[in-house]
Amino acid sequence: MRRVVALYRSSVGKKVLMAVTGFVWFGFLLAHMAGNLGAFLGQEHFDAYAEHLRVVGEPMLPEYSALWAFRAVLIATFIAHVVLAWQTSRQSHQARAVGYRKQENLSFSPASRFMRWGGVLILVFLVYHILHMTTGTLHPDFIAADASGHNAYHNLVTGLSNPLVAAFYVLALTAVAAHLFHGVWSLMQTLGAAHPKYKHLRRPVATIVAALVFLGFVSVPVSVLAGILR
Ligand code: HEM
Repeated sequence: MRRVVALYRSSVGKKVLMAVTGFVWFGFLLAHMAGNLGAFLGQEHFDAYAEHLRVVGEPMLPEYSALWAFRAVLIATFIAHVVLAWQTSRQSHQARAVGYRKQENLSFSPASRFMRWGGVLILVFLVYHILHMTTGTLHPDFIAADASGHNAYHNLVTGLSNPLVAAFYVLALTAVAAHLFHGVWSLMQTLGAAHPKYKHLRRPVATIVAALVFLGFVSVPVSVLAGILR
C-alpha cells in the first residue's frame, strides 16, 4: 500500500496514472468513432445501434444499468485525469521555483504547449456535446427516445446541419487530435520508447493515431454539411 501511495506521489507515478486514465478515454473514443461511422450505413443501422447501447446487458441487468456503469468509469477517469494534470503542472512549477531548469533533451512538441488550453476546450465541448446530443437541451430539433424507438440518426444529422455547430465540433476535434498526439507521444516516452532504437517511431505513431481519430470523427459533420448524410 505504501508503495502505491509513493507511486501516486511521484511525478512518474502521476504520469503513469494519467496514461492509464487517458487510455480508457482513448478506447472510448475509438468505440465512439466506430459507432458514429455507422451513420454511413443508414438511419436504421444507426438507430438500432443507439437502442442497443440503452439495453446492453439485458435481461441480466436492468435497462440503462450497463450504460450507467460505463458512464461512471468515464466520469471517474476523466476527473482523475484532470486532477493529475493539475497536480503534475503544479509540481513542475514548484520544482522550477527552486531552480529547476528545463532539460534540453526533453522535447516539447507544439501540441504539448496547447495541452492545458486544449484540455479546457475539450471540457467545454464535452459539456456542450452532452447537452446537445445526449439530453437534447441545446438541440433545437431533438426528438427523445420513446417507446417507438430511438431518433439518434435524426438528432445527429439535424444537430450537425448548422454550420456554426459543425464548425465548433471540428474545432473541438482538432483539440482532441492535438491532445491525443501529445498523449501518445508521452505514453511512448513513459513506456521507455525514448530508447534510441524506438525514438524515431514516436512522431509517426502519434501522428497516425491522431490523424485517424480526427478523420474518422470529422467525416460525420463534413458529410452532413456536404449533404451526403441527410
Ligand atoms: C463529430 C464528432 C462527434 C459526433 C458526431 C458525436 C456524436 C454523438 C452522439 C450522437 C451521441 C449521443 C449518443 C446517444 O445518446 O444515443 C454522443 C454522445 C457522447 N459523446 Fe460524442 N460525438 C462526437 C465526438 C465526441 C468526442 C470527440 C468526444 C470526447 C472527447 C465525445 C464524447 C461523447 C460522450 C461522453 C457522450 C455521452 C455518452 C453517453 O451517453 O454516455 N463525442 N456523441
